[in-house]
Amino acid sequence: MKPLLLGYGAGGRWFVIRLDGGPRGPFVERLNGIARQAGIVGLSVDLLAEPPTEALVQRLADYLYSDNTVNEGRLTRHLTGFLARSEIPHRYDLRPGAPVEGRDLFGREDEREHLRGHLEAGRSVHLRAPRRYGKTTLLGAVREDLRGRGRACVVPDVSAARSVVDFLAEVAIEATRVETLRDALAALPLARGGFASPDISPSASKKAFAERIAGDVSRMARDLFGALASLRAVLLLDECSTALRFMLPRKRDEARMLCEMLSDARRSGAAMVLAGSSGLTKYVEFHGMTDLVRDLATVDLAPLPAAQGRVLLEELLYETGIRPGGEVLDACERCLGEPVPYFAHALVAALRAEFDRGTTEFTAEIVQVAYETRLLGAWGNTFFRVYRINEQDYPDQVRPGVEAMLNVIAKTKAGAEVEELRRAFAKHVPPALEGSHEAALACAQEDFDLVQTDGRYRMRCKVICDRWAMGEPWLAGE
Ligand SMILES: Nc1ncnc2c1ncn2[C@@H]1O[C@H](COP(=O)(O)OP(=O)(O)O)[C@@H](O)[C@H]1O
Ligand SMILES: [Mg+2]
Repeated sequence: MKPLLLGYGAGGRWFVIRLDGGPRGPFVERLNGIARQAGIVGLSVDLLAEPPTEALVQRLADYLYSDNTVNEGRLTRHLTGFLARSEIPHRYDLRPGAPVEGRDLFGREDEREHLRGHLEAGRSVHLRAPRRYGKTTLLGAVREDLRGRGRACVVPDVSAARSVVDFLAEVAIEATRVETLRDALAALPLARGGFASPDISPSASKKAFAERIAGDVSRMARDLFGALASLRAVLLLDECSTALRFMLPRKRDEARMLCEMLSDARRSGAAMVLAGSSGLTKYVEFHGMTDLVRDLATVDLAPLPAAQGRVLLEELLYETGIRPGGEVLDACERCLGEPVPYFAHALVAALRAEFDRGTTEFTAEIVQVAYETRLLGAWGNTFFRVYRINEQDYPDQVRPGVEAMLNVIAKTKAGAEVEELRRAFAKHVPPALEGSHEAALACAQEDFDLVQTDGRYRMRCKVICDRWAMGEPWLAGE
C-alpha cells in the first residue's frame, strides 16, 4: 500500500511529509494547524497521490516525539526554512571533538558577524574562549565569509611553533600556499630573494626556511606582514596562545619578541585573529606584556543561548536515531546547564552508546544515568583531557595553587569567595608567589570559563564543573 503524502507548497517548492504508520486524522489536522501558524505564504495543503517533482519528502517520524505527539518546533523550523529560504533541513553530524564545518556549524551568528565586522574594518581580534568552545569551528566559518568577499586568509598552524623563527616560517610558507597571494608575494620587490626563490615555496621545508631567515628575522617579519597588509590578507592565528604560552615561562624574551612582532604587524596594517585553546590576555598580563595586546578587539565565545542549545540537542538526537521526548530534552538541558556545543555532542554520543546497546525507550532517568556513568565516568575521559590542569601551561610553582582554587570553585556550588580562593592558593604555592593569586585566578578564569556573580566565582559550564568536582587526580593533578 502506498504511503499517504501530505504536501505544503510555496514558490514552486514542495515540502512533503510521508505519513508512515501514524493514525492519519489527528496528525493531518495538527500538521496543517502548525503550518498555518507558521504563516507560510501561498500555503496549499493537499493529500497527494504522488510527491510533486522536486519535492522534499520527509518521514513523519522525523517530526514526532517519542510519545507520538507532533514536534511543532522542529516541523516549523524545517517547513519555514525550506519554503521561505530554500534550506533543506540539515542532518547534523555527531562530531564530538573535531571542528565542524559548513552547515554542521550551529548558531554563532553574532560572533561570526562581529569577527567579520572587526576584520573588515581593519581591526585585529582576540577570539577568547576556553578549550572546545568552538573557536576553530568559528574561524573556519569566518574564513569562508572573508573569502566570499574576496579577502585572502592565511591560516598557518602555529601551535607547534617554539620560537619566533618557527612562527614566521609557518606564516610565510602558509601564505605562499594561498593561490591568490602567491604571485603577488613573489612579485613584491621586498620579497625578492625571499618568497620568489625556489626554496621558499609551498613545498619548502620549514626548517630550511627558518635557517635562511634566522639571521634577519625582524626584516623578514616586516616584509612579510607589510606585504600581507598591502594585499589585504587576513591572518587567522588559531592556537596562537599555545605557542605563546609555551614560550612565556621558558623563553620569555622570545615570547616578548613574538608579541612585539605581531603588534608591529598590526600597526603596519595587518589584520589578524589571535585564538587558541587556552586563555591569552590574562596570561600575557601575568607576564607583564599587556601593552602588546591592548590594541586587540575581543570577541568572546560563551555557551549557546539555552533555546539554541535545546535545538542543537534535538537535531543531534534525531540524527542519531533517538526520537526525544520533552522530558528527555529537559533532562539533557539539566545535565548540560548552559549549553556548550561540544558537550551537547558529547552527551548525545553518550546516549547513542546506550541506544547501540539496545535501549530504545529514552527517559529522563536514562539521560541522567548516561550522563553520570558515561560522560562523567571513564567512558567520558576523552572529552575532558583538554581540561587537565597540566595542559594549561601554568608555571610549575603556580599550578598547584590554581588546582586548589579550581577544586574549591567546583565543590562550592553557590560559588567560591575570593578570600576563600586566596587562602587555598596560598597554601599551595611558595610564600613569594602568594601575591600572584589574583593574576593566577584571572588566567584560570579564561581557561575554565569562571564567572563572577556577587563576588563569588563559579564555573559557567556545569559539565566541566561536575567532572572537576570529582577530584580525579588525572584531571586535577599529575
Ligand atoms: N557552532 C558549533 N556548532 C556545532 N558544534 C560545535 C560548534 N562549535 C563547536 N562545536 C562542537 O565542539 C567541538 C569543538 O569545537 P572546536 O571548534 O574544535 O573548539 P575549539 O577550537 O574552541 O577547541 C566540535 O567538535 C563540535 O563537536
Ligand atoms: Mg581549536
